[in-house]
Amino acid sequence: MKKYDVLIIGAGIAGLYSAINIPSDKEVLVVCKDVPWECNTFYAQGGLATAMNKEDIASHIEDTMVAGSYHNNRDAVEIMSKISLETTKDIIDKGMEFDKDEQGNILYTKEAAHSISRIVHAGGDATGIYLHYFLMVQNKHKLQKNTLVYDLLIKEGRCYGVKAIVNYKPITIYADNIIIASGGVGSLYEFNTNSRTISADIHGICAEKGIPLADMEMMQFHPTVFVKTPYARKLLLTEALRGEGAFIVNENGERFLFDYDERGELASRDIVSRAIFDYKRKNNNEDVYLDFSMFDKDFFHKRFPNITRSFLALGYHFPTDRVPISPAFHYAVGGIKSDTYGRVDGVTNLFAIGEAASTGVHGANRLASNSLLEGLVFAKRSIKYILAQKKEDYEIPSFDKDYATILHKENDKEYRQRLRSIMWHDIGIIRTKDDLKRAKNLIYDIKNQDIGRLLELRLNTASAIVESALARDESLGAHYIE
Ligand code: SIN
Repeated sequence: MKKYDVLIIGAGIAGLYSAINIPSDKEVLVVCKDVPWECNTFYAQGGLATAMNKEDIASHIEDTMVAGSYHNNRDAVEIMSKISLETTKDIIDKGMEFDKDEQGNILYTKEAAHSISRIVHAGGDATGIYLHYFLMVQNKHKLQKNTLVYDLLIKEGRCYGVKAIVNYKPITIYADNIIIASGGVGSLYEFNTNSRTISADIHGICAEKGIPLADMEMMQFHPTVFVKTPYARKLLLTEALRGEGAFIVNENGERFLFDYDERGELASRDIVSRAIFDYKRKNNNEDVYLDFSMFDKDFFHKRFPNITRSFLALGYHFPTDRVPISPAFHYAVGGIKSDTYGRVDGVTNLFAIGEAASTGVHGANRLASNSLLEGLVFAKRSIKYILAQKKEDYEIPSFDKDYATILHKENDKEYRQRLRSIMWHDIGIIRTKDDLKRAKNLIYDIKNQDIGRLLELRLNTASAIVESALARDESLGAHYIE
């Protein structure tokens, strides 16, 4: 029976950088649900946050802690910030090209709640595309696409592998170590910026198996998203736009964010998202815009080529035209509880890293562009831990239960839509206890219908979010109770 040394679920930054750090004599399999670029890494625009030098570490740590409302695991933050220097160097040494000025110096940008410009970017506003391509080229291990994991094979504190569907056929994949790098929960929300593949399945499996999820009430909304498209993934307008000087204005072109926070457009994204939400609510749902008219046209097109192109296709001419924006779900701060080596509590050889995980590094709200950094840093640490372990001999037990024939049922689509609406309206940017209780009951009702396995997994994750939100009475970071 084929058994891999390491099985990695997910081909975003955390999954691929894990694979890159495993020597070629190990048997490694990376699996992803669809094509490999359908992941949140690919759609990242802003960049990769990094401490600029040793002197900047303390300030990067402090900015991360302030954005996270000091709910962060300080150890994890210190590890991430300190290791950011060697990590950024490592990918640059391996050939990753970040944007540079004419003298060849790397260009750093600023995003909300960073006290200095410390974010490296590539292709202007196409950091994710460049980084993902770089990682794909660097990875020499086997990558298998169209592999949808629907169960983790866990018995008595060990994970033996997964069950998955590959091209409509159920298969079992065994491995000594299993790394979950499957991203967050975006598809649970009606308005979200995530890849369509990010649908909370693995979180749902963990919830089912009693593997702890942490900080699940901390769901982060990005303030500047164009939501007036029919597609599930809504169009992000990177925070770097505001970092470089774009304004948020009302119908009359007036900036109103200073009424909410003295940092205006550069307040942390939870504050800006809530301010926009509140402003619209108090003003008859009037449109709110991102205004770029202060930018020089050539500068804008060079710095933000990706956004310029995608919005031109929708009829917007940047930087002249302003664009209506709304907050949308962006990032799961909470996730599968893991330590700073990615280890998952209670299952010796199971690891969770990147957005799928909750190490506590982001506290109650993630600082902009720390997610790509987190993916790199904790991927490498989990591999360091795995490679230091002695190979064990063990028998693989049998796992009889199989859900492969009931992954989808007839009415799932309608229930999924209902769930997305509940999540957006009742477990969204501004929450009330009554809405949360209502949402909890509605989720429970859908769970009791005749539904498929994948929807059940989504509902498990949704339940975990609503339960955590109900358990926290006070507002904190991304969790805001009115
Ligand atoms: C953005 O470009 O605004 C998103 C960056 C992030 O999510 O950290």
